[in-house]
Amino acid sequence: MHQPKPTKGNTKWFTRDRFGMFIHWGLYALPARHEWVKQREEIPDEQYAPYFKYFNPVRFDPGKWADLARDAGMKYMVITSKHHEGFCLWDSQQTDYKATNTPWEKDLLAEVVEAFRSRGLKVGFYYSLIDWHHPDFTVDRIHSQRNHPDRDSLNRGRDMSKYRDYMKNQVRELLSNYGKIDVIWYDFSYPGEDGKGRDDWDSEGLEALSRSLQPEIIINNRLDLPSSVDFHTPEQFQPREWLRVDGEPVVWETCQTFSGSWGYHRDEATWKSPGQLIRMLVNTVATGGNLLMNVGPTASGELDYRAVEALRVYRDWMAQHSEAIYGCTASAFTAPQDCRLTQNGDLLYVHVFAYPFRHLYLDEIGDRLAYAEFLHDGSEVAFSIGEDKSAQLQLPVVGPKTEVPVIKLYLKS
Ligand code: GLC
Repeated sequence: MHQPKPTKGNTKWFTRDRFGMFIHWGLYALPARHEWVKQREEIPDEQYAPYFKYFNPVRFDPGKWADLARDAGMKYMVITSKHHEGFCLWDSQQTDYKATNTPWEKDLLAEVVEAFRSRGLKVGFYYSLIDWHHPDFTVDRIHSQRNHPDRDSLNRGRDMSKYRDYMKNQVRELLSNYGKIDVIWYDFSYPGEDGKGRDDWDSEGLEALSRSLQPEIIINNRLDLPSSVDFHTPEQFQPREWLRVDGEPVVWETCQTFSGSWGYHRDEATWKSPGQLIRMLVNTVATGGNLLMNVGPTASGELDYRAVEALRVYRDWMAQHSEAIYGCTASAFTAPQDCRLTQNGDLLYVHVFAYPFRHLYLDEIGDRLAYAEFLHDGSEVAFSIGEDKSAQLQLPVVGPKTEVPVIKLYLKS
């Protein structure tokens, strides 16, 4: 099956582990209506200031988050160290706009990193290139002040070279002070008219700094610098086939939300069903990708009950089926009707999205099929091989009690 060209970073662990937790957390958890609230509602700094003044996550316990991630079968975590609002979760020496200057008074990132690393998960930092608070970040077409009546006066005196230094000094802190960091997830470039791209960020400098401080690190594709990319990041949609760039298959990770918002959104109700959650994970791995599933902690520092319930859907399914995810990728075989296939060498996994009456058919597999079993209980699945070399799997009328039943096929080498 597809073999993406090697990149500068080592993505072997990444494509083996397949499944991670995204965490979007910042001052935007207080207004609790999307992490872009400052931009969407064009909230000026003074009106946004109360969220800084009252930020105090009194029930912050990252061990609980890490336990839920580990139990859900997630193998890595990426947390927003700083999102577009500019607020820093760590004790950055570059700014006063940070968690240690809020009523919380402590570095939040250190505790999160320790909690997840101690549960065996790899650690990644999301770092926003965009900053709607920094005094040297120029107002542009997506800035929270983009419609200010006198934008020129706002931009007078702003110096993006100072902002580039600010970013480098912050990235140096993030990649020097928290041990081994496995992923840096920059977000995002919007080059062109009244936008910002690689030259505005000095993306080459950011890449060089990232790799010099963390030689094993992998970098996403949002620096607007193709030569820096280790993995691509389609978001909020399900690719139907292996993602290609310029015709070539690439390493890719889709990031998704349990609901319609990355940051905690109290009143947003489009929470995905258990079946959707499992099918999203399977669809992703069946097309050769990773899934980074997002949670948005509340202003109190907890994952709300809807996120906890969603993570437990993954826990219950992965407890019996994780071998059909870890180390797996797309298969060259044709999936049976209403099914998806993931493969790991001579092991082929049939993920049954719509449970059929009695039979499933796999074409072109006949002379390679040695044995078949349900993954949830290890019970044998009988099969016969047709003249045309297709395999007919014989299923019980009543399917297994699980969101997506999986049949494990042992192939002869
Ligand atoms: C988009 C959103 C941003 C979010 C990111 C996650 O860039 O604008 O808020 O952090 O997606 O992929």
